[in-house]
Amino acid sequence: MNLITAESLTRAFQSTVAVDGINLSIKEGVCTALLGPNGAGKTTTLNMLTGLIKPTGGSIAFDERYHGDRRQYIGYLPQFPKFYGWMSGQEYLMYTGQLCGLTKKAANERAEELLTLVDLAEAKRKRIGGYSGGMKQRLGIAQALVNNPKLVILDEPVSALDPIGRREVLELMKKLKKTTSILFSTHVLHDAEEVSDDIFIMNRGKVVIEGGLAELQTKYQKPTIYIETEEEPDIWCRALKKKEWFRHMHLDKKQLTITVENINTAREELLADATLHKLKPLRFEVVRTTLEDLFMEVAKK
Ligand SMILES: Nc1ncnc2c1ncn2[C@@H]1O[C@H](COP(=O)(O)OP(=O)(O)OP(=O)(O)O)[C@@H](O)[C@H]1O
Ligand SMILES: [Mg+2]
Repeated sequence: MNLITAESLTRAFQSTVAVDGINLSIKEGVCTALLGPNGAGKTTTLNMLTGLIKPTGGSIAFDERYHGDRRQYIGYLPQFPKFYGWMSGQEYLMYTGQLCGLTKKAANERAEELLTLVDLAEAKRKRIGGYSGGMKQRLGIAQALVNNPKLVILDEPVSALDPIGRREVLELMKKLKKTTSILFSTHVLHDAEEVSDDIFIMNRGKVVIEGGLAELQTKYQKPTIYIETEEEPDIWCRALKKKEWFRHMHLDKKQLTITVENINTAREELLADATLHKLKPLRFEVVRTTLEDLFMEVAKK
């Protein structure tokens, strides 16, 4: 079931076409990533879906089971959220809850629930000004959940964070996706691969590739073999380049990564290779590459 369906969605700012006739279907119960380099049109797309800005063309339809203004079913964390540094996390969530129409009592209960969910219960009386980047972002996600949305939209939730903050937020998103549909934007492919089920890759206002993560991986991932040896393998490596299954290799001292065409043939031949045995292999592993090559190709266009 689709929560949001956008058809030929377009937004122009004077002569700049930020979003150029894209079709999107965001499914219920999954985490969808909108991936793309800077300026691809991600924020503009999300702002149209949330209703913050109007499209200059195309249409947006929300799941018919949910009547009325779609904004009541959507939670949103902007790319650059602003907080009142002097408020505590708890005060902030109570404030946003009341803005959404909750009574003071209900807002208080919801704030407590959300503070526990985003792991800020212990810091709830601390001023937001003293929160780390990761804590602020988790508070922002809690704020986006205050109205119990059917879909929570997060614009670059991890981009501005250090590795620790990034990990905290990604783990929270993994927890959240069990109960809420998520649509988030990122320019980091690795984040999309880690948490999302569906991916739309945008560039220059258009959706250039879309599909389920597993489907894209099967289609675009290049099988790779990682070999670590006790002896230097450089002479042996030169011979490998002539194999018909060979595509690409990277040698770092005694660590060899080979991208191959046919994983089964390559594995069989390598394991039967007498020279490799003489090099005293320490590790032989079939690894999954990321979709990095695909993303770089798309981003360059
Ligand atoms: N209010 C605006 N007025 C004029 N141009 C705009 C406006 N908002 C966005 N644009 C332009 O539209 C294009 C897409 O911008 P958008 O912010 O949607 O990209 P993005 O994918 O979110 O990028 P980033 O990764 O940097 O956040 C850019 O060329 C941008 O300069
Ligand atoms: Mg953006």
